[in-house]
Order: sequence, then C-alpha cells, then structure tokens
Amino acid sequence: MLRDRLGIEAVLDGCSPQGQCGCCTVLVDDAPRVACVTPARRVAGRHVTTAAGLSADEQHRWSGAFLACGATQCGFCTPGIVCRLVGHERRGADLSDRATVDRALAAHLCRCTGWQTIREAAAHAASPSAETHDRDPEAAPRRASIETGGPQRSVPVSVLGALDFGADGAPPGTLTAVAGPDGLIHAESLTEARRQAGKVQGRRTTLEPVPPIQIPEPPPGTQWDIRLATCWTEPGYLETDAAWCEPGAQPSDPLANGGAFGGKKSSPVRDEAQHLANDLGHPVRVLWSREDTVRRGPKRPPLAAGLHTDGTGIIRIARTPGATEVLQSVLPNAEIVEVDLPGPPTSMDLRAAVWAEAQMLATALNRLQSGKWLNAGTTTVEITSSEGALAQATVGPAGIEVQVDAGDPLDMTTLRSYAIGASHMAWSWVTSEALAVDADGEVHDLTIRSFRIARSADTPHIQVTIEPSQRPPVPAGDAVFAAVAAATWLNRGAPAHLPTGR
Ligand code: FES
Ligand code: FES
Repeated sequence: MLRDRLGIEAVLDGCSPQGQCGCCTVLVDDAPRVACVTPARRVAGRHVTTAAGLSADEQHRWSGAFLACGATQCGFCTPGIVCRLVGHERRGADLSDRATVDRALAAHLCRCTGWQTIREAAAHAASPSAETHDRDPEAAPRRASIETGGPQRSVPVSVLGALDFGADGAPPGTLTAVAGPDGLIHAESLTEARRQAGKVQGRRTTLEPVPPIQIPEPPPGTQWDIRLATCWTEPGYLETDAAWCEPGAQPSDPLANGGAFGGKKSSPVRDEAQHLANDLGHPVRVLWSREDTVRRGPKRPPLAAGLHTDGTGIIRIARTPGATEVLQSVLPNAEIVEVDLPGPPTSMDLRAAVWAEAQMLATALNRLQSGKWLNAGTTTVEITSSEGALAQATVGPAGIEVQVDAGDPLDMTTLRSYAIGASHMAWSWVTSEALAVDADGEVHDLTIRSFRIARSADTPHIQVTIEPSQRPPVPAGDAVFAAVAAATWLNRGAPAHLPTGR
C-alpha cells in the first residue's frame, strides 16, 4: 500500500510479499514492522513512520553514523535497517552491544557491506564517542564508482530512502508490468498486475542443493590431488531488476545506485520497459519480483575440477562465453571442458566469476608444490588482480584479516567498506551459499532467505588494513574476494564441494 497506492518511495521493495529482506521496514508506533506482510487494517489508527519521517535528530545522527562508518553502499537495504535500529533505540536497546544489533539485523539482508560497518554505525549513533572514520566527500564517490563500475552516491538522502532506484521517479499514472506465464502483464498498479499475472510467490524448497557437475574421473591408476565442485549460487542483490520508460524516451537505469556487482550488466528490463512503453504509447514500469530475479538473473558458472599437483587434470564448467579463456590463463596445464547445463543463465559479469575459482585452485596447487599446506590453524593467501590490486587474506580462529593495496585509496572509509563487503561475500559463498536447482534446470529456492547468505551474527570479525599508495587507483573487490575465498577454502582443508559449511 505504501509504495503502490500512496507512492511513498522511501519504502523499498526487495522481495514483497515474501517478508524476508527487511527493505520495507517501517515503524508502527515505535515498533519495527516489515510493511509488505503487514495488512493495513492491522495498523488502523496507529502511526506509520518511514525513514523519511524520523525526527530531525534521528535523521541527522543516523545518516551521519552510516556515512561516517561506510555502512551504506547501494543504499537499497539502508532505510529499512535504519528504521529498525531507531525502533530499538527508542525502546532503550544497547546498540553498542554486538549481540543486540545482530538480533536486530536478523530480519534484514544487506548484500554490499558485509554487516560489520552497519554494526559500527549502530554503535556510533548510540555513542558519539565511538570510533569514527574520516570521509572525503570528493574522493568517496570516486572510490565507490571504481569499485562498482558505475556512479554511486552515499549521501544523507540515500540513508533515508530519498534516492531514486530503478523503479522510482516515474510520472504519475505510469503502468506497472510484471512477468506473466506468456510475457509481460501490465496494469494500473503492481497489485493488479500481479493478480492478473496469477503470480504465486515462491517458497523455500526441501530440495537440497548439490553441485550440478560431477568431478571427472581421474586417469586409471591415479587420483586427483585437488578436487573442487561448486553449486549454483544466487548473487542476491537487494534491488531486483526494475526500469521505467516513457514512449520514445530512454529507460531508467536498473543499476540505479550500484550494488549488483555485475549482476545487472545485461539486464533485459531496460529493453522490456522501452518496448512496452513504445507499444502502449504510455509510460510503463517493469518490475521483476524476487523469484523472477532468481529464475532469470545471471549466476556464477558452476564447475567441477580434478587436478594433479603438476596442474594437469580436467575442469568441467557450465558453458559460458569467456570461461575457458579465464581458466586457461590461470591454469594453463588443465584441460577445460564446457558442458551444457540446464538451469538459469550463467555470466562472467558477476564478481570475480570463474577467476576466483581458478585462483583458489592455483593457490592450492602452489601449496602442494611447495609443501606448505596449512599454517597452524591460520591460512594466508595473497592474490593480485589483473588490474593490479593486491589483497592478502588471513583466515583463522581470530576471524578474517585483509591487507589491500589498490593504488591511491582515495577515501579510506569507502575502500574499507568495499573490502569488508567483498570479504563477507567470499566467506559466505565458500561456507554457506547454494541454490537448489533440479536436474531439469528448474530453480527451487525462490526466496531471499533460501540463498543461505551469511547473517551478521554468523559473520566473523573482518580486520582491514589499507596500504597507502600513490599509484593510480584500481578496483580492490575482485582481489579481496579471491584472496578471502581461497584462504577460507584452504583453511577448511580444501574440501571437494562448496559450500564447505562453517
Ligand atoms: S520487501 Fe518486505 S521484507 Fe522484503
Ligand atoms: S548497501 Fe545494503 S544491499 Fe547495498
């Protein structure tokens, strides 16, 4: 009702009506509530407050805290998280306590920041003497744009929900189109379009995810020294694909404020919105639901590898343009076999896709060749990206430590935020993420919780050290992702299947 009938775009929609991402969180009186599963009749006579309606003091303190700590990147999850934390603050919760904030964040997902900076922002807002980080308002967006590959703004309005995303800013009367069984169905509201399309929300399945490609058999009389098979995984960006367009005009950008880490590079929604607007002679907004994004959005190509210590062996990978070249550049002695795999589309556009997997295998081979397999409970891996960013990751009982040299940091807080986010994404991918896809290629895990993304409470502490440098700035994310993924996998003894479990 808030977005669809009242046009209040400060309330964001990452999964409605699944009630699982927390992006639509508002305060009902002072209690945080997920709006998309709260019937309007249940809140009759009560005050509903969005992030844009918080008090001037709350807006100032909380937007300041999120920006000071680098706790917002794309910002799609942020207004809902701020609403929840303010609700807890109003009721006297101790937001400097990690367990308290972890419990509050259990109702949310953030795909960009890796949680830690959000916990720091909560502590900062609760206690102005808490640790802060200097921001450079000129350099921060430059660093963010280098990391996301497109413009990104982190400003007070983005913390409070006043930034336009792909679905926002359309003129009054814009039609809304959703995917139906035989193409797009449009209507005057999202609710009506979904009703006409007969949309039934997907639920988590009982089907267990398994790697879709078998590890090849070794030549007779030999065995592989390194084996690795990966599952289907969902990038899980919070803002689902959305764009609107007026007839004869250019559509809005589904990438909006970044945050998809390559996942929307080839999104079809721009063309869908443009064609439909031209056909109808009327402005149209095309919205993918969460399950549309899972079914139609790109995934990392699953692979299965068996390698000998000298680097010979076989890697089977889901057929994806560019995958073989990347594998061969890192593992030149291995035979690469592309296989046709039924399932959702695969893409090399996603963060370090295939290159990180290749680096993990190459690092394991180097360890075997040098006889330095494990380092007394902690594992350190150093990886340099093709752009020249260097990341050293140490994974062990104390958590994750990352050292980054990505050229001129430009803005320490922003680079640190991206390094923490990439570390979380890698650790979560290696230890827990997987998507159930059956042998016919049909995706069964359609809700955002079923992607198994590591929660705040489950994520180890991530310590980031940034090397000062005068070199031109380069993106750090791929190098950090690959180094943390490799260190996490090796630290668990390089098991044959991902996810490894925690
Ligand atoms: S949009 Fe309501 S919880 Fe995700
Ligand atoms: S900042 Fe949380 S999803 Fe992007």
